[in-house]
Order: sequence, then structure tokens, then C-alpha cells
Amino acid sequence: MNKEKLEKLNKEMLACTKCALSNGCKQVVPGAGSANAQIMFIGEAPGKKEDELGAPFVGAAGKFLDEMLAIIKLKREDVYIANTVKCRPIENRDPSQEEKDICWPWLEKQIAIIQPKIIVTLGRHSMNLFLPELKISEAHGKAIKKDFPEIGEQTFFTLYHPAAALYNGGLRQTLIKDFKKIPKVLRETDKG
Ligand code: URA
Ligand code: SF4
Repeated sequence: MNKEKLEKLNKEMLACTKCALSNGCKQVVPGAGSANAQIMFIGEAPGKKEDELGAPFVGAAGKFLDEMLAIIKLKREDVYIANTVKCRPIENRDPSQEEKDICWPWLEKQIAIIQPKIIVTLGRHSMNLFLPELKISEAHGKAIKKDFPEIGEQTFFTLYHPAAALYNGGLRQTLIKDFKKIPKVLRETDKG
């Protein structure tokens, strides 16, 4: 069962001290949602609220994410939400390449268990983890297929980060417009 596998993996993750981020955070934030989700959202890193509560996207950006999910008639329980690194960087600085590399096997294992039909990347850190050559200003709102030796062929849909769009009217409208395309991307992925 996916649920048991994911719970076991996330429990192992809670004890992780593999990179320096573990020194500055209150707790590891593995991720949350359905182990059988068709859509997996991947953000950047836990922030202050996430670090306190042990869950992803529970602050202002998370509220905005919930609102956008509601527009496409989904709840956060229907999807899976994770981050590129599972521990909060001090002062919310960007996670370093080294930290992202060290944390990657956890995300890889989460993806391998959930096997989402689409991975929605939130922000450039998440996008560049899978698609290092892309620029978010050009790639946002587009579906891209890529083969990974460990994961197989995977469809990605790249979005701006909700935190970046929160207080920027133009980006906010673009993000909402892109977000509404998710059901269509999912249907088209179904057709193969
Ligand atoms: N921003 C992220 O990228 N991830 C979270 O979990 C919260 C805010
Ligand atoms: Fe482990 Fe990832 Fe946390 Fe680093 S960020 S300590 S690799 S769980």
C-alpha cells in the first residue's frame, strides 16, 4: 500500500540530519496529502509557520494555494504537497545547491511511491531541480515531459511560486490563469 510506504519513508525523514539545514530548523517537514495523488505539488522549502507546525504550505502562501485548489475543485487532501528541501533554511534564505542535492533522494523516493500523473513545480527552485535549463518567465504555464532514469517518463507543469505572486498583482493573475489549466494538463496526460 502506498500509504504505509509513504508513512514509513516520512518517518525515516523525520530523523534526517544529512545536511546543515537540520541545525537551524525546529523539525523536518516531509510533506502532506494523499499517497495516491494524481497531482504532486513541489514547493521550495518550509518557512517559519511550516517549521513550527511540521506541515507544508500552512502560511500565507499555503492559504493562496488552497484558494487556487478550490477554483479547480480540489482540496489539499486530494493532492500531495512537498518541497525540494524538507528543513527550513534560517531566515528563509534560498536552499543551496548542495542542500538540494543532499535532500533529493527523499523527494525521489516520495515521487517513486506516489507516482503522480503530473508534478506541478512551484517557483524556479523546484522547476530547476527537474528542468535546470528552463527560465520560469518563459516556461510557466506549460506542460513538459521528461524521462528520468529513477522515475521514468514524467509530466511537469511549471508555475510561479504562490509566495512570489501573493503581493504582485500581475504575477497573481498569471499564476491563477496557469493554475486553471491543471485539469486539462491532467486529462491530456491520461491520454498518454
Ligand atoms: N513555501 C514553500 O516553498 N514551501 C512551503 O512549504 C511553504 C512556503
Ligand atoms: Fe535531511 Fe533534507 Fe532536512 Fe537536509 S533538508 S537535514 S537532507 S531532510
